[in-house]
Amino acid sequence: MTTTIELKGLTKQFGEIVAVQDVDLEVRKGEVFGFLGPNAAGKSTTVKVATTLLVPTRGTVVVGSHDVLEEPESVRALIGLLPEDGADTHYDRLTTVENLEYFGRLYDVPKETLQNRIDELLEFLELSDRRDDSPGTFSTGLKQKLSLARALIHNPPIVFLDEPTSNLDPIMSRKVREFIQQMAGGSKQTFFMCTHLLSEAEHLCDRVGFISHGRLVEVGSPADLRRKFWTQRTFELQLATGDPAKAKSIVEATSLATSVRIENKRIVFVVEKVERKNPQIVRALVEAGLAIVELRERIPDLEDVYLKVIGGK
Ligand SMILES: Nc1ncnc2c1ncn2[C@@H]1O[C@H](COP(=O)(O)OP(=O)(O)OP(=O)(O)O)[C@@H](O)[C@H]1O
Ligand SMILES: [Mg+2]
Repeated sequence: MTTTIELKGLTKQFGEIVAVQDVDLEVRKGEVFGFLGPNAAGKSTTVKVATTLLVPTRGTVVVGSHDVLEEPESVRALIGLLPEDGADTHYDRLTTVENLEYFGRLYDVPKETLQNRIDELLEFLELSDRRDDSPGTFSTGLKQKLSLARALIHNPPIVFLDEPTSNLDPIMSRKVREFIQQMAGGSKQTFFMCTHLLSEAEHLCDRVGFISHGRLVEVGSPADLRRKFWTQRTFELQLATGDPAKAKSIVEATSLATSVRIENKRIVFVVEKVERKNPQIVRALVEAGLAIVELRERIPDLEDVYLKVIGGK
């Protein structure tokens, strides 16, 4: 798969503050890449360097085979950006449509295509009835929708989104996520997005990177990261009737589980080598006359991985 965004040894300092430190990262064409990390970790700074808004202190950034320092114009022509402070970057003296026309013209979108594209985006983002209003009269969420339309107006092959759904309601957030997924499908567009919403990253992103104090600490698909950080598996078992304490002592007596506890009348146990051990645990319970209603695995989600990786930093 082709690399479309490449950071090599990227460092960005603001005086004494090292916002981004020695980051190496490759984002592939058609991928939805999620950039996660605590406040002040360096996410937006990375986006600003990659979108030519800031100059790197050290290292190189190549976007769509153009170096951001050597060919910033070529990089800008290829990208769309929803900036972190996107809600406040519109021209209030222009209407919604005029804002989009202005940015479309900057990107040399042909006139006929531009009108269709504007109509399409306004329709999709449910902004059509506000097309002749000034963004100065908009709520934060409406401004963010307009920022999104602006980022996509020229149908750019590479899109940077800094917290795209932060001000959107749940239904619109889902719509935007589905749109991103659809656009990235078949390698049409590449998305690099910062988000604090771990469930969003989990469902949307092909791969995620965790950044903490300016350093990239983990990169991988949500599934790979789960596997890497969870070698043991946790199960919970619910009895039809009977005493959970009795079940707990039976599981303990098998000496097959690493740990056993009771939570909300459910027996929670941790095992390795599940294929061999779980049948033996279940048999011991059934032979003791206990009826099992449900046995299910507690699968860690990306939030669990995040807390494990970032929590200790
Ligand atoms: N223009 C600037 N001048 C000085 N320091 C800056 C500037 N921009 C960012 N920083 C500092 O760089 C660090 C990284 O900031 P950045 O905005 O990249 O974080 P972030 O990961 O996007 O955080 P958040 O989740 O809060 O948006 C912070 O300590 C921030 O204060
Ligand atoms: Mg930020």
